[in-house]
Amino acid sequence: MEQTRDFILLYINGERREISGEQTFMTLSDYLRYEKQLTGTKVVCAEGDCGACTVLVGTVKPQSSAAAVQYQSINACIQFMHGLDCSHVITIEGLPENNMQLHPVQQAMVQAQATQCGFCTPGFVMAAAGMMEIKSKINQQQAKNFLTGNLCRCTGYQSIINAMLDINHENYSTIKARYHSPQLHNDLLTHSKTAVSIKHKNNSYEAPLNSITAAQSLASPEHKFFAAATDLGVQYNKGHWQQQQVVSLNLIEELHRCEINQSRARIGARVTLSQLEQALTEVQPEWVEFMHIFASPQIKNNGTLIGNIANGSPIGDNLPFLLAINANLSIQGPNTHRTVNINDFYLGYRQLDLADNELITHVDIPHKPNNSYLKLYKVSQRRDLDISCVSAAFMLTLNQGNKLESVAIALGGVAATAIRLDAIERTLIGLTLDQLLSPKHIASTADLISSQVTPMSDVRGSQAYRKLLVANLYKKFIHELALQPELTA
Ligand code: FES
Ligand code: FES
Repeated sequence: MEQTRDFILLYINGERREISGEQTFMTLSDYLRYEKQLTGTKVVCAEGDCGACTVLVGTVKPQSSAAAVQYQSINACIQFMHGLDCSHVITIEGLPENNMQLHPVQQAMVQAQATQCGFCTPGFVMAAAGMMEIKSKINQQQAKNFLTGNLCRCTGYQSIINAMLDINHENYSTIKARYHSPQLHNDLLTHSKTAVSIKHKNNSYEAPLNSITAAQSLASPEHKFFAAATDLGVQYNKGHWQQQQVVSLNLIEELHRCEINQSRARIGARVTLSQLEQALTEVQPEWVEFMHIFASPQIKNNGTLIGNIANGSPIGDNLPFLLAINANLSIQGPNTHRTVNINDFYLGYRQLDLADNELITHVDIPHKPNNSYLKLYKVSQRRDLDISCVSAAFMLTLNQGNKLESVAIALGGVAATAIRLDAIERTLIGLTLDQLLSPKHIASTADLISSQVTPMSDVRGSQAYRKLLVANLYKKFIHELALQPELTA
């Protein structure tokens, strides 16, 4: 029988904490503010949208070296304490150096007079401190990118950006260099090798060390597998999900890996979107570019691709891409293991080909074939960090004779699930590029796409608008294709 511990271990601003009982199931922001009186971490939206609650977290994954640990920003309001097992949390109170000397970001904010009411300020400071962990000097665009997850209601953005550009990087020690001692690392690493089992009233938390045990631990449909829970954290704060019966994937070493070989990337269930952005720049540049607009750094530092897949929302931002590229899912049950193509995985609105006691352990993403062309689009009311109205992935591959060898058209936001339009794809295979680019053909295919979708009307867009959007996105794709010199020369 596997040895277990009945507490989670974390450090907060360098102080060791063993957490058990009720505190295990609190959000980090509640724990900091109400149990530890660390009230510099603010809460405004409580749903991961505003960044007021930003803290830095360095997580020691099973078998990870100290060199691999990164201190990154996350939202404390939607982070459960149990999700921080084997982590080190730095709050705004932990930023100043000895003698309460202001951190360079704080100093820059003061000098640029970059606060008005000041309520958002700790979150901005922490997000910028996260930026300093990986960048020694930044330009205006990079500063904006790092701060996309932070809102200031007083709209003092220009002075905040000015402060970011004025940060003094001389003689600066990163948070990691200051806090992540070998002793602290070894303590967290040692504990990451022991499974966890905590019960408190109706709540339970199990963190096994392998996927089979995880599948076998799921005692009832009320139990949930937990990767990062960026969505369940929101539901918890809104009162939609209270009883936490959790089987965490946190301590399963293989699920933290992202492996790339000649033909595909294999992504474990605990790999974050930020890790993917870093790892897949070479092999999937269009997708990495697309990721820049759909979530804040705080969410991407915590949220996972497989969480997005298992959530099954018809407007999940990644799904059209995964459908178009023909990703495969590895699914582990208590006594079975199977592989499912993602195009067969969504059976209806939020209905998945996944039993209650099965978990998705990996997704395999094939590399694009040679001579292929991929474009990803998202239309939403705001460009960054918004829920999409319609999203689309178009991919085609040309053979040596410049004829279409394969075509994929995948759409989100136009049906009960994200979909592929296979019947239309088949009509395009074998066409020459000239035929595809002819105005008459473009118009008829766009009309056909529009006629094949059955979107609903909601606050993000009417049915008629969505039908028009999918037709126009196809035209845009073809227009951009025509501008590719290597394809049309
Ligand atoms: Fe708004 Fe946490 S309080 S993101
Ligand atoms: Fe007031 Fe930002 S300074 S919300």
